[in-house]
Amino acid sequence: MASGHDFDPKILGFLCNWCCYAGADLAGVSRYQYAPNIRIIRLMCSGRVDPAFVIRAFFNGHDGVFIGGCWLGECHYVTEGNYDAMSMMHLTKKLLKYIGVNPNRLRLEWVSASEGIRFAEVMNSFTDELKSMGHIGESEGQDQHMLKIKLEAAGKMIPYLKLVEREKLRVRFKTEEEYDEYFNSEDVNHVFHELIADKLVMSEILLLMARGALSNGEISEALALSPSDVSKHMGNCLSEGLVRYDPAKKNYVLA
Ligand code: FES
Repeated sequence: MASGHDFDPKILGFLCNWCCYAGADLAGVSRYQYAPNIRIIRLMCSGRVDPAFVIRAFFNGHDGVFIGGCWLGECHYVTEGNYDAMSMMHLTKKLLKYIGVNPNRLRLEWVSASEGIRFAEVMNSFTDELKSMGHIGESEGQDQHMLKIKLEAAGKMIPYLKLVEREKLRVRFKTEEEYDEYFNSEDVNHVFHELIADKLVMSEILLLMARGALSNGEISEALALSPSDVSKHMGNCLSEGLVRYDPAKKNYVLA
């Protein structure tokens, strides 16, 4: 497994133009030393980062995704997009956790235009953390094929995730601690589990079946699900007309 100091993690960074991007620029101009592992995409606000961007970055083989925004209260837009970025970050981390990807591979930080040294420190710290984790998938014990299926399934859930966020989980607090507490609360975990988790697993199963018919046992083994959980999900897939059961072969095929 590639991990430790011999491993160079690939990081994709989404930086707000007004603060973190300028901070990164200042770090470069000031010649502060930081790990050169990040590839930067400049956005006008951290609130513009869509969960789909994050999932796609991991799907494309990045080991970490970094989002850099203005400090709270300093966003340049009346909508204060950095608060939206916090909600997005929490929900995307939950999605990553559900598909078995270490959520710490996604990091959100505030860096102002004058904080070149802070940008360098944050980059070094994130790079070190990713080095200790190793390549995406490897340290999570997932082979690349299954990892891609899970990330693709997560990507398919994004429109639904955004709908759930808008209808059930939209909040506006003042501090990071309040966001942490809310998104780690029993209530939010319950909503996420009830509305997202089952659909996510069904999506994984359907993507797995795109390669051919599968039995209950094969699905159970591939996705590390109990046979009873597989039966429950296959029952849902059958009732929604997504799969057919072949009693002669005792397996399922896509409808
Ligand atoms: Fe920088 Fe909104 S303008 S986070």
